Amino acid sequence: MVRLDAHINELDTPALLLDLDALERNIETMAEYIRGVPAELRPHEKTHKTPIIAHKQLKAGAIGITCAKLGEAEAMASAGIRDILIANQVVGEPKVTRLVNLAKHSDIIVAVEDSGNVRHLAEAAKSKGVRLNVIIEVDVGNNRCGTAPGDPTLELAREIANHPSLNMRGLMGYEGFCQNIIDLEERREKATEAMAKLVSTRDLLDDKGFSTEIVSAGGTGTHMITAEYPGVTEVEAGSYIFMDTTYSRVEGLEKYDPSLTVLSTITSLPRPGIAICDAGRKTITFEPSRPMPLAKGLEGIIYEASSEEHGRLSVEEGSGLRLGDKIEFIVSHCCTNVNLYDQFHCLRDDHLEAVWEITARGRSQ
Ligand SMILES: Cc1ncc(COP(=O)(O)O)c(C=O)c1O
Repeated sequence: MVRLDAHINELDTPALLLDLDALERNIETMAEYIRGVPAELRPHEKTHKTPIIAHKQLKAGAIGITCAKLGEAEAMASAGIRDILIANQVVGEPKVTRLVNLAKHSDIIVAVEDSGNVRHLAEAAKSKGVRLNVIIEVDVGNNRCGTAPGDPTLELAREIANHPSLNMRGLMGYEGFCQNIIDLEERREKATEAMAKLVSTRDLLDDKGFSTEIVSAGGTGTHMITAEYPGVTEVEAGSYIFMDTTYSRVEGLEKYDPSLTVLSTITSLPRPGIAICDAGRKTITFEPSRPMPLAKGLEGIIYEASSEEHGRLSVEEGSGLRLGDKIEFIVSHCCTNVNLYDQFHCLRDDHLEAVWEITARGRSQ
């Protein structure tokens, strides 16, 4: 392992770097915002997959965490985190068995959208003597999972109520399609429409006597809208801790600083105007719908293309770039990048303060 206190230039590459000052500032900035609004924060763990970061978010006031996968929830539970929402469907054996076993050790809430899955969860919970918390996922326009707002959601609530081994906690509705809309007013309009569908469905269920104490929604791009929408009780923002080149363009997120970078070495200078670095698609994700990675603090160097192990940079004349030089890139999508690495190299003032294992990296099952 690399020596603690090493300078950034002593680190080998490619490496995933975390600027601790920026991370801590981002956690506090969100916590401060949340203290001023009615909703609570249940940050999404899929961004960092790392217990120590989840514990920092909880210490700053988060009421629990959100996970995307059962495997992530297991990793977080075994790191001592109790209050966990799995904002996703858990379907089929052996996952349902794992889920009810996990519910014996943590306060797990799981999303549901299908009556057959509800019956499966209920039977498994009953056979293990567990009362499993469930939340109905409502499709608020994301065109992914979820019941349709209104009566179809009410019908599923009726099915849940047939099973004493299930504890109905409320609704979730993720307005993912709004997150990256650059213009704040356009985003506000679309996210507000989505939240109206969610909260009116909550009102319908309330009228019929169903328990809906939780109404969960929101991501980094919409947190300032959903957290203020009357009736939303918690927001699931994740990326605000790291940011990336996609979120850096989104209006209203200026107070969050990029804290996550990939450190890379220039390995080839094949011809004037071109440099090759050692961060290709296996170490810095490439998603065509997103902007490219950005060379941190450097003008005139553009990450323009990548293959598996190579990144091609276009370099302005006179850049003075030499073989072996190191460049930090702000990534285009923080969550998928983290999943490529085993560890964060955590820096303060350009010196290595800690190395954190990304415990839930790859826990996709
Ligand atoms: C269910 C759910 N909630 C919240 C989020 C918010 O994440 P972020 O803040 O990273 O945009 C996501 C992102 O994919 C999600 O899938």
